[in-house]
Amino acid sequence: MIRVEKAKETGFCFGVRRALKILEEATEKYGEMETLGPVVHNQRVVDDLSQLGVKTVTSLDQISGRIAVIPSHGVPPRVAEELKARRLRVIDTTCPNVRKAQKAARELSEVDFFVVIFGDPNHPEVKGILGWAGGRGIAIPDSQAISDLGQLPPHLGLLSQTTRNANQFAQFINSFVTWSLPLVQELRIVNTLCNITKKRQAEAVQLAKKVDVMIVVGGRNSANARCLAEVCSSTGTETYHIEKASEIEQTWLRGKTSVGVTTGTSIPDQVTDEVMLKLDQLRESLEAGG
Ligand code: F3S
Repeated sequence: MIRVEKAKETGFCFGVRRALKILEEATEKYGEMETLGPVVHNQRVVDDLSQLGVKTVTSLDQISGRIAVIPSHGVPPRVAEELKARRLRVIDTTCPNVRKAQKAARELSEVDFFVVIFGDPNHPEVKGILGWAGGRGIAIPDSQAISDLGQLPPHLGLLSQTTRNANQFAQFINSFVTWSLPLVQELRIVNTLCNITKKRQAEAVQLAKKVDVMIVVGGRNSANARCLAEVCSSTGTETYHIEKASEIEQTWLRGKTSVGVTTGTSIPDQVTDEVMLKLDQLRESLEAGG
């Protein structure tokens, strides 16, 4: 008998729900619009939005209409100013938690602190936060990369990408303090982690410790889903990161007694339901000797 357990909290987080509500209302009011990069990192959501008239473009120059959307990951202030300068109507869906990180970066740079972000330099949220630091900042993906850093200014502010893991951020702070102490005069740390992600990761770890296999549902380009898969895998439990139900293979369940399921924060409930249904079918088939 294989037991399948779903994490208590799955599906959209508050930031994604808020962004979708803003867009639904805006499309009802104004019609078609263009978003600078996907509003959230999930293809199903992006496809559903395109039915409502929300088209995704990858750069400012591709905007051909009158209404532009800032995605939930936010943008650098330079981009927001450019949109205004072009006299476009701007619909801003930046998550309030991301906004807090942007504000922290701006405030640090205003008092002459160089901003160091624990995060992926290529992620749009991190690029946006660096923009709010006025170009006086750097993103570092992991503790190993600290030793490659050259000379930094004497006043430093440390932040994290909102969706990073709390333990990893704590380890990063430790390594950074050890490395930078002989070089800096002042180091300020601002906790910019998203509480929802933190809670979801903690619950996923507990679940992963209880089961034989973990399935993490989330976009492959979603930072929070990748982090969830990473923390589940770090417990030693076999972990699979999938985007949709059809990716699940029966062999993953063979000889197992329990499976845990969690999802990233931009996964619609419908996708989670499909995953649960598929697991049920595979379980039944295995129990019937399939
Ligand atoms: Fe915002 Fe946290 Fe969701 S940063 S978009 S509430 S994962």
